[in-house]
Amino acid sequence: MSKGKFITIEGCEGVGKTTQVDLLKQAFAGREDVLFLREPGGTAISEQIRRIILDVKNEGMSGICEVLLYSASRAQLVEEVIKPALREGKTVICDRFTDSTLAYQGYARGLGADMVETLSDIACGGLKPDLTVFLDLDPVSAFKRKGGADSKDRLEQAGIQFHAKVYEGYKRIAERYPERVACVPAGEGAQRVHELVMQLLKERGAI
Ligand SMILES: Nc1ncnc2c1ncn2[C@@H]1O[C@H](COP(=O)(O)OP(=O)(O)O)[C@@H](O)[C@H]1O
Ligand SMILES: [Mg+2]
Repeated sequence: MSKGKFITIEGCEGVGKTTQVDLLKQAFAGREDVLFLREPGGTAISEQIRRIILDVKNEGMSGICEVLLYSASRAQLVEEVIKPALREGKTVICDRFTDSTLAYQGYARGLGADMVETLSDIACGGLKPDLTVFLDLDPVSAFKRKGGADSKDRLEQAGIQFHAKVYEGYKRIAERYPERVACVPAGEGAQRVHELVMQLLKERGAI
């Protein structure tokens, strides 16, 4: 059975994930066998959960509540969209996925990597990305690009120390899963980073 490739794009806030996904959309314009998604979200149910997660009114949300909401949103996306697309042989490119939960909740919020990985396995029914593109840039430089944190996004409001821990979390994930996670230096201009991403996807036979 032909099976499509599952690619995730990861990294701290402002490193350029969405910018790179947009450039990939342009590069693959007209290709019906390439599907673009973003997390949390991507289905009607998952988008509703996304609003709860990001709402600044929910500052009292516990870490475990947060990680369960991310997992719930992901479970729906995997079941409703990702698995059927991969079965059809499509390439699926997702802006954030399980490594975000691992970096943010597992490492930075201190819930522990093992618990978060177990939850991710349950939510994904064992599905793992074939390739994860880690856009590697420290959070101080990344936030400068954005002109500071988004006041409407609870996670972005968490402070630079938190985001430094997220970055450390990503570094540990990259060390732990060197076969799956490829680090792409994200400090140069968007077009140059796009070239690096395209080169990587070709090298890995992902497109
Ligand atoms: N390589 C780059 N160099 C400079 N600025 C960039 C680069 N990539 C993205 N940006 C800008 O940085 C900001 C954050 O980019 P974005 O793609 O939204 O990041 P993310 O999705 O990772 O949070 C945007 O204003 C974007 O235009
Ligand atoms: Mg983004």
